[in-house]
Amino acid sequence: MTEAAAFLTLGLETSCDETSAAVLRGQTEILSNVVYTQADLHARYGGVVPEVASRNHVVKLPYIVREALDAARVEAKGLSLVAATYGPGLVGPLLVGLSHAKGMAFALDTPFLGVNHLEGHIFGHRLHRPEMEPPFMALVVSGGHTALVDVARYGEYRTVGATVDDAAGEALDKIGKMVGIGYPAGAEIDRLASLGDAKAIPFPRPMDASPGFDFSFSGLKTAVLYHLRKNPREKREDIAASVLGSVVDVLTRKGLEATRRFHRTRLVVVGGVAANQHLRERLTRDGEQRGIEVSFPPLSLCTDNAAMIAAVAAFRHLSLGEAHPLSLTPEPSLSL
Ligand code: KG4
Ligand code: ZN
Repeated sequence: MTEAAAFLTLGLETSCDETSAAVLRGQTEILSNVVYTQADLHARYGGVVPEVASRNHVVKLPYIVREALDAARVEAKGLSLVAATYGPGLVGPLLVGLSHAKGMAFALDTPFLGVNHLEGHIFGHRLHRPEMEPPFMALVVSGGHTALVDVARYGEYRTVGATVDDAAGEALDKIGKMVGIGYPAGAEIDRLASLGDAKAIPFPRPMDASPGFDFSFSGLKTAVLYHLRKNPREKREDIAASVLGSVVDVLTRKGLEATRRFHRTRLVVVGGVAANQHLRERLTRDGEQRGIEVSFPPLSLCTDNAAMIAAVAAFRHLSLGEAHPLSLTPEPSLSL
């Protein structure tokens, strides 16, 4: 076994409403990746309640860490590095994971690393296809973020476009709430859309015609609100299909165009919304037509998980020689 292969990283993810812990061997071998979602706790409020999330992370995290170590058949004292997300995200939830990781690193006398959650999503894809090295364009599309990031090499990022208001997943979740779908709504909208007609309602394609690669999804939300006021009995399936028609159109067109404009031949799509079947099919098909290879991780590495956090940490420590002091604090608005 090589030295790098014996290197064991514990990663923690608590930036929003998933409590997750994972053990990684080397830079890309997942030994365990335990994800507990609090979604049911927040469903009755129609979105994440930060204080409820923080308190639940405090209760669940120690058990999730135990489970991740047991599933990996690793003892805590065998760990080489302990890492946690330190931003972007909700400050309380971030603080819980970060404090836990720091405490463990101190007690075990290992190095500690804080990880950028957005870089984490990009590494979710690396775990899926380690051989597919940069350069590539990345579309990070989740509940909190919608961004096009040119990845020259791991660790070197240039954001070439981002949402000016709501993230795509956030808009889907809010639209879901309007039509009576529980939080989070993305997966259910995905399912309903397959049963509806995408041409039923001509929702706008926000910023589709504007130059550049920024996105806007709050106008779509307002369009759905007005449509529902006039047509309260509209079929949910048709709303879902028409809304996704708009979101998928814009993400596909801008994603592929940015890939071409920045002279990349591959587009990597990550984040919770990358789980969307309609987006996967359309991007793959249109990408093929334009000679662009579009690649998605499996669903379990699209949505929030700690393996992607451990993967960033292992890379940054082993390849870039990084570690953070235990004085590192959460950065809720951290960017790439
Ligand atoms: O990456 P993620 O787990 O958390 C953030 O970092 O935000 O993404 C969660 C988002 C939610 O908005 C959820 O509705 C959306 O991903 N989502 C989906 C699907 N599965 C999850 N959106 C569309 N289609 C899906 N199948
Ligand atoms: Zn995320």
